[in-house]
Amino acid sequence: MTEKILIIDDDIDTLKLVGLMLERHGYRIAVASNGSIGLSKAASENPDLILLDIMMPDMDGYEVTRRLRVDPALAHIPIIMFTAKTMVDDKVAGFEAGVDDYLTKPTHPAELTAHVKAVLSRATAPQAELDEKAKVIGFIGARGGQGTTTVALNVGVAMQQSGLDVIVAELNPGCGSMALDLNIANPTGLARLLPRSLKDIHLRSVETELVGHKSGVRFLLASYLPQEIELEQAVSQMESVVNNLQAMCNTLVLDLGSSLRPYVKPILKMCDRVILILQPIYPTSVSARVVVEDIVNAGILRQHISMALVTRERTGLAIPWKQVEGDLGIELAGIISPAPEIAQQASRGGNPIVMMQPDSLVADQIHKLTDYIAINLSLNTR
Ligand SMILES: Nc1ncnc2c1ncn2[C@@H]1O[C@H](COP(=O)(O)OP(=O)(O)OP(=O)(O)O)[C@@H](O)[C@H]1O
Ligand SMILES: [Mg+2]
Repeated sequence: MTEKILIIDDDIDTLKLVGLMLERHGYRIAVASNGSIGLSKAASENPDLILLDIMMPDMDGYEVTRRLRVDPALAHIPIIMFTAKTMVDDKVAGFEAGVDDYLTKPTHPAELTAHVKAVLSRATAPQAELDEKAKVIGFIGARGGQGTTTVALNVGVAMQQSGLDVIVAELNPGCGSMALDLNIANPTGLARLLPRSLKDIHLRSVETELVGHKSGVRFLLASYLPQEIELEQAVSQMESVVNNLQAMCNTLVLDLGSSLRPYVKPILKMCDRVILILQPIYPTSVSARVVVEDIVNAGILRQHISMALVTRERTGLAIPWKQVEGDLGIELAGIISPAPEIAQQASRGGNPIVMMQPDSLVADQIHKLTDYIAINLSLNTR
């Protein structure tokens, strides 16, 4: 499909000239003669790139850029600022507002088309070609409520603390709880991406949905709105989201929830290591066996699956880890002891356990689990 370029400029000659020139290079063109028309055309025309003038009577190019960048539906569109202004400060202001590239008028046609081509290919190239892909660690619960989210969140933070560049994604549409554990209201990240067409899921649109955290980890969060559970049908979208996330960090931690829903299987295949989370008690020990077989049947080598045992309450009936290991035929990666108060306090305070209680036994166990994964995947930790 031919790419569409929206030109926003109050100078009719520029619109005509540049439009014609780009049309000659095979692009489709849409034009707008001021900022507000530009914004509405950005929404209605769905362009692949915007060429934007700075000085316009109603709204300058910086403001147009800022408005585009805060609109989740439009934030991903690359922008080249195209202007007669040549001062360095103007360029800096442009980049600060969020433009991708900058051209000064008058521009030679060959220079213009070269920039257009470069920006378009950066925006659409499969990221794998641009960057080395991240190692992916998938956490999956043998059933619900095992502590999967708590472990994924804390391992992610521990990995960041050991010098890795980490993204943690909770791939559990409509059933999220990580945002609550981080005191983040209205988590919309995943729910905003999954309804989109594949074309609209790319580096920029995914990056826009990430939430930063004081630990340095970036999060893609799932909502806890039951009406969004149906988004789990968006299997290709989910795969595309993970592919993009993989290109934005060096370590990607996935919370895959607790059952092998349709989207989980293809994502398991993208994981370099799968960690099954379970409490070593009956009946979880039984359902864990089924889940391991399901994971193996999804095409994952048994050697790539490990287990972390989380005991949430002290009990004399816990099954020894050696026995669980033998029953499931997968290796033990770590053990997390009961710490209901710490877990509760951490969640309420929006502060992961490894940050809130770094000297606690559980934090130590999280670090040991993290070390196991790092050694297994040869992660470059300090
Ligand atoms: N080591 C622990 N000791 C005691 N309680 C814990 C421990 N780890 C986590 N918890 C608590 O257990 C509850 C469930 O944890 P979490 O949300 O991580 O589980 P989950 O498997 O992700 O659940 P879901 O199936 O809802 O996704 C939370 O209240 C959490 O604070
Ligand atoms: Mg969870």
